[in-house]
Amino acid sequence: MTESDIKKGLAGVVADVTAISKVNPETNSLLYRGYPVQELAAAQPFEAVAYLLWHGELPDEEQLAEFERLERSLRRLDRRTLELLDTIPVEAHPMDIVRTAVSQLGTFDDTLHRPGGWTDRELDLGRSAYLFAQLPTIVAAVQRRRRGQEPIPPRDDLDYSRNFLWMTFGELPSDAAVDVFRVSMVLYAEHSFNASTFTARVIASTTSDLYSAVVGAIGALKGPLHGGANEAVMHILSEIGSAEAVGPWLDRALAEKRKIMGFGHRVYKNGDSRVPTMRAALDVLLEESGRTDLAELVRTLEAEFVARKGIHPNLDFPSGPAYHLLGFDTEIFTPLFIAARVPGWTAHIMEQAASNALIRPLSAYNGPEERHVEA
Ligand code: COA
Repeated sequence: MTESDIKKGLAGVVADVTAISKVNPETNSLLYRGYPVQELAAAQPFEAVAYLLWHGELPDEEQLAEFERLERSLRRLDRRTLELLDTIPVEAHPMDIVRTAVSQLGTFDDTLHRPGGWTDRELDLGRSAYLFAQLPTIVAAVQRRRRGQEPIPPRDDLDYSRNFLWMTFGELPSDAAVDVFRVSMVLYAEHSFNASTFTARVIASTTSDLYSAVVGAIGALKGPLHGGANEAVMHILSEIGSAEAVGPWLDRALAEKRKIMGFGHRVYKNGDSRVPTMRAALDVLLEESGRTDLAELVRTLEAEFVARKGIHPNLDFPSGPAYHLLGFDTEIFTPLFIAARVPGWTAHIMEQAASNALIRPLSAYNGPEERHVEA
């Protein structure tokens, strides 16, 4: 084996086939089950996109209504989850809190005790819907607790996005805010073999259960090189402060060889297919809020960084400031990504289970030659 046989970071390695999504860096396109993500983001409810990822087809009217009824019936948190949230230090990172709560949900599921119950597709579909419905209630409760507020129970008369914002802020959001939020959820829902999805597939490949795979995926998503970037973008924007400060800040950051969060991508090298749609959604909020300072800062940082390095923004760059303008704390941005990516993760967990091969690569040893403990 030579150095060149080693694919560090598995870069360029095709690890399996998937029918869930296609990322095409040449054409800057992203398809979910064949549909361009922009077309889904334009008009489809997030509930329909989740259904598409799991079942392979968009739901018809009746199927959507049935799924919406199910989703609404599964939103309410068990008393024990509310109690668990209360036992966790309020200053803990929300990613760690949500990861812990999802792990607890797995312990409530007694179908896991059935023979073969860990990987049964019908049961996994039910579990996926359960996580999809519970996560907004958990994330909203975590956001409120940070502000010393009581959780707000879900409202069955509201769709996923409107209810999410209602449970978080306790007021009915504008149609524009709901739509920006829905668009972000659709754009974040799925992205082939990214680090967290691959983590979920590795765990599923051992024939472990869906909750364990999702908990592992959350751990992978937390890192700033992956989902944590949307939070990190906001920290960078606060650190820079104003459009005028971008130039000197970039001089220093690049001299220190810092990674600028929200830019670059392992697969897309000429721009992220999701950015134009999310940027348009962000523009709506910037316009509505009158935050010309933030608009100028975002625009200047993007233009300056692209001009200097030729590295383009990824989805986290416009979504970070959009979540900020919707009113979320910066530390809640990546938990929002969890809620959005659950349909993608769970679709991959089920796909892995349906055609499983244990994921277990090789390594080249570069430690000491064989040696022996002195007698
Ligand atoms: N800021 C500064 N330089 C960057 C950069 C960024 N955001 N992204 C890539 N680069 C540079 C690297 O420093 C490297 O330069 P070098 O060849 O001179 O060492 C080159 O571009 C290749 O980057 P590399 O990190 O090896 O590419 P990758 O495919 O492994 O990385 C990311 C992809 C996403 C990990 C990387 O672009 C990154 O860290 N981005 C910031 C975090 C982020 O936004 N993550 C969310 C992804 S959706």
